[in-house]
Amino acid sequence: MTAKKIDGRAMAKEVREEVKVSVAKRIAAGKPKPGLATVLVGSDPASEVYVGMKKRMCENLGMNSFAHTLEADASQEEVEALVSKLNADPAVNGILVQLPLPDHLDEEKILQAVDITKDIDGFHPINIGRLAQKGRESLFVPCTPNGCLVMLDKSGVDLEGANAVVLGRSNIVGMPMALLLVKRNATVTICHSRTKNLPEICAEADILIAAVGRAEMVKKEWVKPGAVVIDVGTHRIDDDTKEKGYYLTGDVAFDEVSEVADAVSPSPGGVGPMTIAMLMRNTLRAAEIQQD
Ligand code: GUN
Repeated sequence: MTAKKIDGRAMAKEVREEVKVSVAKRIAAGKPKPGLATVLVGSDPASEVYVGMKKRMCENLGMNSFAHTLEADASQEEVEALVSKLNADPAVNGILVQLPLPDHLDEEKILQAVDITKDIDGFHPINIGRLAQKGRESLFVPCTPNGCLVMLDKSGVDLEGANAVVLGRSNIVGMPMALLLVKRNATVTICHSRTKNLPEICAEADILIAAVGRAEMVKKEWVKPGAVVIDVGTHRIDDDTKEKGYYLTGDVAFDEVSEVADAVSPSPGGVGPMTIAMLMRNTLRAAEIQQD
């Protein structure tokens, strides 16, 4: 069997088009442009790339973007003061504090300082808490796991009663992913670095979400024939034989897993573009919540 490729790039384009049309309608109706503020502390190269991509995407979809960069040694007070200023700015509908933050900063306190109606990352404890509670809707759902869910839905995967295994328990991906899958009535197992018999547990999954942070860790033997696999990882591997001197890959050994799975999302070209599309959708939603 050769698995179907879950084309996150094409799916993300559909989402972006919808957002673009809605943004244009708001502007035609005399409403302000939705605006996203990003806060980057320090100069981590990967974070700089991500923040730059978010800024360009806002502009492509007709939204404003306000990029703020603080020095790597910025104090807790400075970061919180910036967040407060953005909370009070009506031109800013969404606030994204790029993670990870430098170690000296208290991440939880900073995320808690974001106004929950501007929390387009869905990382505020109230939004995450609501996601964990039956019948309570969060205002915003974290972009990466929500993007994975949209990819599953667009691929026609039935989640009801399915065995889903989430590899990874991070605040950004694994934990909210598991909560979202439970909300959709999947039977969910969360695996992490201390999990015993990892390959065997993964091989029970109808749906396997790989957010483990290790290049090509998920092998063919870890995947049940006919399973659906979503690869959240992105890794840059040095390789002198490539023109750029490196190549990108995911948490999943794509070629061999494609021999057994029913469908696999590639990395790059899967979850990455979908995450940014979800961020744009959340920013539009923030403008709707605040202005309609
Ligand atoms: N770092 C890695 N992924 C994310 C994300 O989705 N949001 C933020 N704010 N930081 C990240």
